[in-house]
Amino acid sequence: MTFKTLREDIDSVIARDPAARSRLEVVMCYPGFQAILLHRLAHSAWNRGWRLTGRWLSQLGRLFTGIEIHPGATIGRRVFIDHGMGVVIGETAIVGDDVTLYQGVTLGGTKLHKGKRHPTLERGVIVGSGAQILGPFTVGQEARIGANAVVLAEVPAGVTMTGIPAKPALTRDKSRAAEFQAYGTPTDGLPDPVARAIEALQAEVAQLRGRVVELESSQQPVDARSTLRITGT
Ligand SMILES: CC(C)(COP(=O)(O)OP(=O)(O)OC[C@H]1O[C@@H](n2cnc3c(N)ncnc32)[C@H](O)[C@@H]1OP(=O)(O)O)[C@@H](O)C(=O)NCCC(=O)NCCS
Repeated sequence: MTFKTLREDIDSVIARDPAARSRLEVVMCYPGFQAILLHRLAHSAWNRGWRLTGRWLSQLGRLFTGIEIHPGATIGRRVFIDHGMGVVIGETAIVGDDVTLYQGVTLGGTKLHKGKRHPTLERGVIVGSGAQILGPFTVGQEARIGANAVVLAEVPAGVTMTGIPAKPALTRDKSRAAEFQAYGTPTDGLPDPVARAIEALQAEVAQLRGRVVELESSQQPVDARSTLRITGT
């Protein structure tokens, strides 16, 4: 752990939380930052073979922040755990650079064997509050996991997953993927709510037009069938 890494960790909180006003505030008041700081110490002890020290530091982090990160877990740069309480990150989890996790997230396993059993989150993934990602698969770059989703299989890059078990919710616009969106909710770039309402109305009109065309084309066979029935009796 270097001073540069710490500074990046602090700045990533300021960049992603509009409520954060200074570096001092982040150091003193952000449990996500404090948990990652303690994790970096615990991980370094773990890798030196000081396993008990690693576990103890990890438990200290849990006691103070409510965030449990196993010292064996690999946490990338500029990872931001917002609010944090109830987050659990398992021993073989890998969390890539610029990942954001909200409170109540589990990066857990479903098997008891000793090998890789926790997920790998690639760069820029956002995981909504209460989401559970369970198993040794990969969540691709910039993917979004909706609040309270339960993810049980690999997630392709850029996809938004919701529900239990999680399924793709919508096709994300790739041009928005590089940019962080607070709470994982992409904006559509429209300037105001009126523009959004107009866009929704246009979509509805297009849908209704399609329905009218569909009904018109199905009209003929229905009439033919009723004519046959009438003539048959
Ligand atoms: C999943 C998420 C990223 C999607 O945001 P979005 O791209 O703006 O998607 P929309 O709100 O347009 O919703 C798209 C569809 O997914 C559904 N959906 C959205 N979030 C969902 C969720 N968490 N669980 C189940 N369904 C969800 C919507 O109902 C909608 O379904 P529909 O097409 O049948 O109407 C966002 O809803 C989310 O859960 N973000 C995490 C926020 C969070 O944890 N905040 C904590 C702050 S403390």
